[in-house]
Amino acid sequence: MAAPLRIALAGLGTVGGGVIRLIEANGALIARRAGRPLEIVAVCARDRTKDRGVDLSAYAWEDDMTVLAQRDDIDVVVELVGGSDGPALSLARRTLAAGKGLVTANKAMVAHHGMELAASAEDQGVPLKFEAAVAGGIPVIKGLREGAAANELVRLYGILNGTCNYILTTMERTGRDFADVLKDAQDLGYAEADPTFDVEGIDAAHKLAILAAIGFGARIDFPAVEIEGITRLRAADFAQAAALGYVIRLIGIADCEGPGLFQRVQPYLVPRSHPLAAVDGATNAVVAEGNFAGRLLFQGAGAGDGPTASAVVADLIDIARGDTGAPFSVPAHELDALPPAHAGHRRNRAYLRFTVTDRPGVLAEISAAMRDGGVSIESLIQQGRPEEGGEVLIAMVTHEGPENAVAKALALLEGSASLTEPPLVMRLLG
Ligand SMILES: NC(=O)c1ccc[n+]([C@@H]2O[C@H](COP(=O)([O-])OP(=O)(O)OC[C@H]3O[C@@H](n4cnc5c(N)ncnc54)[C@H](OP(=O)(O)O)[C@@H]3O)[C@@H](O)[C@H]2O)c1
Repeated sequence: MAAPLRIALAGLGTVGGGVIRLIEANGALIARRAGRPLEIVAVCARDRTKDRGVDLSAYAWEDDMTVLAQRDDIDVVVELVGGSDGPALSLARRTLAAGKGLVTANKAMVAHHGMELAASAEDQGVPLKFEAAVAGGIPVIKGLREGAAANELVRLYGILNGTCNYILTTMERTGRDFADVLKDAQDLGYAEADPTFDVEGIDAAHKLAILAAIGFGARIDFPAVEIEGITRLRAADFAQAAALGYVIRLIGIADCEGPGLFQRVQPYLVPRSHPLAAVDGATNAVVAEGNFAGRLLFQGAGAGDGPTASAVVADLIDIARGDTGAPFSVPAHELDALPPAHAGHRRNRAYLRFTVTDRPGVLAEISAAMRDGGVSIESLIQQGRPEEGGEVLIAMVTHEGPENAVAKALALLEGSASLTEPPLVMRLLG
């Protein structure tokens, strides 16, 4: 059998520990499939004394992880530290500059610095892989780079954040409000103590930006992703959605329109008959629509030590087999710098929810703004019983129309004394 692929692990937390356990458990079968063993040579974390539930005695320990990039007895560094910049980025740059391969699960770093890192890897002729950065254990990057490589993609969309999906599906099932369910998710370990990146949609946007680059042959443009999280959703929105035959999911969606790349993360109303409506709990799912393959659905665990380690080790197996293909499918310098697509003319049906003071004339004011903005209302629901604080919710679903008509109507209502908070807009997934 060929010489082992010699690995350094930076980060021994949830994912790093999982990688060690996986290689220990499945080492023999991995060696047969890869044609050579995967051998962990050196490791690094902050606290050497911490009990991680794995035996580290066979591995060299480095206190400074950048040293891993310089060691002569390492072929590939696996970065499982996290953070878009700082030590993780410094390690990634040094690893590639030293002519070693890099595997990472760090979506924030790839979304912000993926173009630079890919160019560096290609210049050096070394592999850069990040399957675990998008949708945990689901081989969606492999699916797009390899399985669907013959297709022009029409559209790419999915549920990219397990924490949000857990919260949304729990709100749907229990009728409880966001803050209440978030607290439970934190207690159960599904949400971080600081959940901002997840619930504000930023984590999903990192993943979407990476997928869009691979799917559409475009340079990553994370700042261009239109992002809205799930924090403004109320129990009443789920009840209204259910009455209309929909569920609510945080959807990341990308497509190419003319010369522009459209990227959005937002809560959507998803028809109950759609496969994404059945995606429950912390599961992730990605739909890729290819012009020859049709609709492909990738689904599975989007996080956790086992699934994420599975994706990291799959990358290592590819490297052991000699795969150094372009990280984003197309070489970094050939990726198109696509401008952001303007969403205004996109045609959608939309759910609009207004939180208003309980007084006469409010409905007439909203209806007039819709009429003047050119929005045609398909159905209107007024919640009769005032919510806490005397607010009343008015929800409506529009007929299909351009997004800028809705924007114009809402602009007419800006500053209205009748509204107690800005209107909530959710598109219906078509
Ligand atoms: N957890 C998941 O399910 C999941 C899924 C997909 C992707 N990811 C990504 O995988 C990466 C790792 O996530 P994780 O959940 O495994 O994180 P984690 O449990 O917090 O582990 C982070 C590890 O990095 C080490 N570390 C932090 N700063 C360091 C420094 N300056 N020098 C050396 N070591 C340092 C920590 O050391 P100590 O242990 O000594 O503190 C810890 O072992 C992140 O990029 C994350 O976004 C995670």
